[in-house]
Amino acid sequence: MTTTLTLSAQPSDPLVVVNGPLSEALAQRLGLRTVEDFTEQPGQQYVFYRDGTLYLGLAPSQREHPVCVDFAEQHRRRHRGKELLLKAVGGRRTGLRIVDTTAGLGRDSLLLASYGAEVTLCEREPVVAEMLADGLRRGLQQAEVAEFVARMRLVPGPASAYLRAIPEADRPDVIYLDPMFPDSGKSAQVKKEMRLFHSLVGRDEDDGVLLQEALDCAKHRVVVKRAPRSAALSGPRPQFAVQGKAVRFDVYPLKAFPKG
Ligand SMILES: C[S@@+](CC[C@H](N)C(=O)[O-])C[C@H]1O[C@@H](n2cnc3c(N)ncnc32)[C@H](O)[C@@H]1O
Repeated sequence: MTTTLTLSAQPSDPLVVVNGPLSEALAQRLGLRTVEDFTEQPGQQYVFYRDGTLYLGLAPSQREHPVCVDFAEQHRRRHRGKELLLKAVGGRRTGLRIVDTTAGLGRDSLLLASYGAEVTLCEREPVVAEMLADGLRRGLQQAEVAEFVARMRLVPGPASAYLRAIPEADRPDVIYLDPMFPDSGKSAQVKKEMRLFHSLVGRDEDDGVLLQEALDCAKHRVVVKRAPRSAALSGPRPQFAVQGKAVRFDVYPLKAFPKG
């Protein structure tokens, strides 16, 4: 019998900050080590600034797109005419207050803000929260999205802690959840771009708990994004779903919206 032993070189810290302007402060906030430059260590992920934008990526030689939050780019790439999310949150209403409990790269939050909503973005993964903060800062200077970004506010950390601290009088109209589910990318290209993000964040195993907390806190409805054929989150059943080809929104209405 032949035994093959495969040795895979693992980086000592899977995530490091590449040295440059602003990087010392960032490394301190994230509790990460700084390195002078990219190396060829397999699996090594880097957080780095390029042209004033914060990225998560591999060494440039790996030819994998680094990830950043660029709201102007997201706005250009949005799927027009497929306003499923708008339908799910109850239509266009100025001043609707929405908590996006799983902000990620902020794409859904941006869409919601573009419909006129005031959006609070909760994000618990510290690197992702830093990228969001960076995107929001730059977004205020990007003419095509500045108006929307001005309605977006980041709350880094777990959504549960935020929801529990909301006083009764300030409860949000809608709470939105988009927990990480397997195979959530639509095209091969999206999947490629999102590989790094997925490997950083992993699965959100506590989504059933978050759903219950959202149902206890929202005034009018809770909306959950799912893959088209995946099961609803564990807990109460959604009352209806807004179904698309690539995505489904499960809707949990709590109280009708005021007319007008
Ligand atoms: C699938 S991604 C969301 C993508 C996002 N909807 C977008 O449009 O870019 C899920 C994100 O939610 C975050 N997350 C999951 N559960 C959370 C929680 N309980 N509190 C805060 N953030 C959470 C994860 O860290 C991850 O970044």
